[in-house]
Amino acid sequence: MSVTVRVPAKVNVQLAVGAARPDGFHDLANVFLAVGLYDEVTVTPADELRVTCTGPDAAQVPLDGTNLAARAAVALAARYGRNPAVHIHIAKDIPVAGGMAGGSADGAGALVACDALWGTGASRAELLDICAELGSDVPFSLVGGAALGIGRGEKLTVLETGGTFNWVFAMAERGLSTPAVFREFDRLGEGTDIPEPVASQLLLDALAKGDPDALAAAVSNDLEPAALSLFPELADTLAAGRTAGALAALVSGSGPTTAFLVRDPGSAAKVAAALTASGTCRTVRTAAGPAAGATVIDRPSHEVHGTPA
Ligand code: C5P
Repeated sequence: MSVTVRVPAKVNVQLAVGAARPDGFHDLANVFLAVGLYDEVTVTPADELRVTCTGPDAAQVPLDGTNLAARAAVALAARYGRNPAVHIHIAKDIPVAGGMAGGSADGAGALVACDALWGTGASRAELLDICAELGSDVPFSLVGGAALGIGRGEKLTVLETGGTFNWVFAMAERGLSTPAVFREFDRLGEGTDIPEPVASQLLLDALAKGDPDALAAAVSNDLEPAALSLFPELADTLAAGRTAGALAALVSGSGPTTAFLVRDPGSAAKVAAALTASGTCRTVRTAAGPAAGATVIDRPSHEVHGTPA
């Protein structure tokens, strides 16, 4: 008896970053778009909590209590007075330490899976509260689609999208630590006046219209200079994608994954081939967004068909 949940990766089409707050976090205007690259999280009752992981980047995933999936199970169990004795298996396809919210996806996935397994009856608002405690990007992994995140990025407003956006993602040879990128943002901005982060109306309109050219003109990432400062070779990847005809090229979140917006699946294939040939990245993937948030895809049959009286 187990429950499997599918959870998407994200790209930030706008990431406006304010000055460091007294608690060390930064206020954001963070426009998330979920894209069709997924992790699958399966939870099964077990004698004690344990985490396993398979996939190309599995060796880099921590399997101890620091894994966001394990922390999600512990947080939900604590709230409902349960023992978090589950085996969590992560079938990982989202790049690790890539700026695509792979760890956050696993946290949201484990939370939704444990909730279904245990039948806690938690409301959506309670689940979102736990997500926000786990990390700034975790609520969005639960919700999916497109959303504006303010505060640390955890206070979400769902956004309408008028169409599908096609993307190519280039995964880098190594990861980047999110706290290190924010520290570099602080260092680069020292002595300057950092404006309040605000969402771009042009960008929100482009999303609502489903217009890739307008979105390409409006995308921005305030963390990009910091990511490039720590990982200068990413400039070559961005240049290779632009030369190949991408409408826009940007670092995804805190990086180092680079994201290329393209007009249609045909240009996605062309840009993906050019990026692979450029030798400036480890792997290349194509994906479209918006994609659904954390979704139960497999659960015990008695729950699907109803419990006999
Ligand atoms: O919330 P999360 O644990 O994902 O954040 C990871 C790190 O990223 C934080 O410890 C902080 O250094 C940085 N961060 C930030 N401001 C945000 C979100 C994250 O400074 N709004």
